[in-house]
Amino acid sequence: MGNCLDSSAKVDASRSSHNIHTGSAASKVSSKTSGRSSAPSSLTIPSYSGRSSECLPTPRSEGEILSSPNLKAFTFSELRNATRNFRPDSLLGEGGFGYVFKGWIDENTMTAAKPGSGMVVAVKKLKPEGFQGHKEWLTEVNYLGQLHHPNLVKLIGYCLEGENRLLVYEFMPKGSLENHLFRTNFNVSCTTGGPQPLPWAVRMKVAIGAARGLSFLHDAKSQVIYRDFKASNILLDADFNAKLSDFGLAKAGPTGDRTHVSTQVMGTQGYAAPEYVATGRLTAKSDVYSFGVVLLELLSGRRAVDKSKVGVEQVLVDWAKPYLSDKRKLFRIMDTKLGGQYPQKSAVTAAHLAFQCLSNEAKLRPRMSEVLATLEQIDIPKSAARNLVSEYQNGGLSSPVQRSPLRPHHSPLHLTANAASPLKGQRLSPRVR
Ligand SMILES: Nc1ncnc2c1ncn2[C@@H]1O[C@H](COP(=O)(O)OP(=O)(O)OP(=O)(O)O)[C@@H](O)[C@H]1O
Ligand SMILES: [Mg+2]
Repeated sequence: MGNCLDSSAKVDASRSSHNIHTGSAASKVSSKTSGRSSAPSSLTIPSYSGRSSECLPTPRSEGEILSSPNLKAFTFSELRNATRNFRPDSLLGEGGFGYVFKGWIDENTMTAAKPGSGMVVAVKKLKPEGFQGHKEWLTEVNYLGQLHHPNLVKLIGYCLEGENRLLVYEFMPKGSLENHLFRTNFNVSCTTGGPQPLPWAVRMKVAIGAARGLSFLHDAKSQVIYRDFKASNILLDADFNAKLSDFGLAKAGPTGDRTHVSTQVMGTQGYAAPEYVATGRLTAKSDVYSFGVVLLELLSGRRAVDKSKVGVEQVLVDWAKPYLSDKRKLFRIMDTKLGGQYPQKSAVTAAHLAFQCLSNEAKLRPRMSEVLATLEQIDIPKSAARNLVSEYQNGGLSSPVQRSPLRPHHSPLHLTANAASPLKGQRLSPRVR
């Protein structure tokens, strides 16, 4: 979920905290918006009534948001029971918002069930000292309580009790794309083991699913700008279908004659569009830029920002962009872990698409619907994708796609080990406006 930090701030390892289970250090800074109160706030957030692109913006009060008929209001004790008292061995992961635990609830009564029976859920619990505030928590309840799409994670309910803020989601068995791509950890319940890299076909499948989710938001009758598109917010179901999670930073798109929304800069360093960071002017094209960064992560197997690298290699876009539009040089940035197992033509098309998404000129970036159409064209045959998914799940890897004539890169630029960075994404903080 979203937070903010000074966009001009450098990643400061001294402020890093070590993440439980992930083994990754995340630099986090408190947000000025994190003041929480259990008292109903007067905050109104544009909301979206209706289930799909029929949605209409209606500012809603906190009471209206929380009384959504699609959401169950859980008590804290119900969720404590559902997660076996938030036991450490139920921990799925940690983010800026807090900890995420695996839990079990009875589908009919929606009360805590015995572990192993009923419906598996993921319970996100706000850290008391977390910088993710009540406003973002409520924004998430507002959007996910009303937007429904196969490529958006389903919010089942929430808990607001005293200082406690929790969210209950459908459980995503394969965890996040970040886990698979960078291998910083394995979700405790993620059954994929083994050292094999995420195959090309699975990477493309994930890109397509995530593009569908963003397209849906952008093309809704009342546009939604997601604002926090990154590998850790792309969750994966058992078949590697991608679903967007974390709507705490989502924002209603411009209406009427307005071309953009002016807002405090928030998001994650390395993923946020340059013009948004510089001016606070937010458009759907900011999400397209972030999509380009994730596409680049999928191609290169490298993190958007990696402080363990030196110089230009620390920022993926700065390092990789010059190679994206040159077929002959593309191999230099392709993920060596793929072992050349991808069709060259597909890689070239995906790289060109990433290049367009990463244009410094927002207007030159394609719309998400165009991005999706291009990705669907370069997708490998469905049967091949299916085989690869099951082989990846079962720990084997033999690719039915043709071996690429693109050589795995041996560029001096990429000689350093391609190990995952110990640093997670750095948040962007409020600009002084
Ligand atoms: N619905 C879910 N099902 C299964 N695992 C989940 C679910 N939601 C989150 N997780 C796990 O919990 C981890 C932490 O998620 P969280 O959204 O709190 O943080 P994050 O996305 O890593 O960071 P940030 O706070 O910057 O968004 C995820 O990486 C994922 O592994
Ligand atoms: Mg997240």
